[in-house]
Amino acid sequence: MSLTNAPDPAVRQAVVRQDLDNVLHPIVQHKVLETKQMVVTGAQGSTIYDADGTAYLDAMAGLWCVNIGYGRAELAEVAAEQVRELAYFPHTAMNKPAAALAEKINGLMGGGYHTYFVNSGSEANEAGFKIARRFKTISRYFAYHGTTLATLDAGGMGERKAKFEPYSGDFVHVAQPHCYRCPFGLSYPSCELACVKNIENTILGEGPETVAEVLVEPVMSGVGVAVPPDDYLPEVEKLCRKYGILLHVDEVINGFGRTGKMFAHQHYNISPDIIAIAKGISSAYLPIAATVVKNEVFESFYGEASENRQVMQVNTYGGHPVSAAVAVRNIEIMEAEKLADRSAEMGAYLQDGLRTLMRHKVVGDVRGKGLLLGIELVKDRATKEPVGAEQITAIADFCRDNGLLIGRGGGGRRYGNTITLSPPLVITRAECDRIVDTLDRALETIHVG
Ligand SMILES: Cc1ncc(COP(=O)(O)O)c(C=O)c1O
Repeated sequence: MSLTNAPDPAVRQAVVRQDLDNVLHPIVQHKVLETKQMVVTGAQGSTIYDADGTAYLDAMAGLWCVNIGYGRAELAEVAAEQVRELAYFPHTAMNKPAAALAEKINGLMGGGYHTYFVNSGSEANEAGFKIARRFKTISRYFAYHGTTLATLDAGGMGERKAKFEPYSGDFVHVAQPHCYRCPFGLSYPSCELACVKNIENTILGEGPETVAEVLVEPVMSGVGVAVPPDDYLPEVEKLCRKYGILLHVDEVINGFGRTGKMFAHQHYNISPDIIAIAKGISSAYLPIAATVVKNEVFESFYGEASENRQVMQVNTYGGHPVSAAVAVRNIEIMEAEKLADRSAEMGAYLQDGLRTLMRHKVVGDVRGKGLLLGIELVKDRATKEPVGAEQITAIADFCRDNGLLIGRGGGGRRYGNTITLSPPLVITRAECDRIVDTLDRALETIHVG
């Protein structure tokens, strides 16, 4: 059976049947899929096509990842060429594309780093934990760092974690820097960064010598996009240096231009010890991710073979030459088209447009950095009581019925009331206008509040 972009109801129906009978999908309820599904057959730029011929503006770039946009045929050529030359060999040996990609990443980070390749953002963070390993990691409540047991434990989304308890207990959580819903009920700057003091108190309470690292996603995506105050990350870095603790930054979503710079931590002039990257590294054209470590960390694993100090883990596909070759070209495209700058410019334009939605009193907050944006809906601006899940679903359904795909915060009951946007960085002004217009009509049409 083959699918093309030409609408073909019979083929669509056959795929739906084949899928429902055989596939187990992630996180979605199959009962819902029986009546409401998409069969994606093609994509170009920021638009994806269903087998029924419907075009959707993908304002989430898949899962926050197709940064260079869909349909770049030259990446198919790069992949084909690399498959012909060398499709695979384990990364215990060296290969040209992975070496070139690691060099590229080191350059983008400003130098002084080595890169360990894996296949997903979860693995990139998990390898970070193992590399930092000296007992505990401090991370934030409501964060998302991946779906493996350790990364779930590191994350702070109770609802996502609950079904898999108990965990190892190696992750200690601190308050998230989310100013619109400050966990301390304070306001910036008079709060004097209570969230950073909370980290220091936790380090002292746990015993600094037992803490390996502090893990942060610069702009927290999972809570519906929370941008910290500008001095938050520099102060967290200072704490890490004060107590000899590694700073591990999750750039899985934030990286590769998403927030208006190549990496989000570069907005804050900090120098992390461990950086997890994924998604935008290849714009999801092929799976690849990496744990990037400072040379000082790398050197702690360096020695005679007899000392047994090497990084004691391996994965079959790490440093895959085809994925690496595609990732290198993906980054070259980003550089040539200045997509990080474009993200800053289009992000500001889109955010300005979204602010006009404040005319609906249900819009409590509009926030974001670059093309990573959140629109939080509340029943009452004074109390900030979140709107119900069914209302966000109704808005998402309205948008979808009108050719627009949006996302929502992943914090379940607590943060599921935020619409998230993370479109391809090639999105046009006209497409940004369409997002604003469709959301405006959705908020006008659906009774929210
Ligand atoms: C911030 C963050 N870290 C890690 C991950 C895990 O990445 P993956 O799904 O590739 O394992 C995600 C996934 O969305 C993420 O948003």
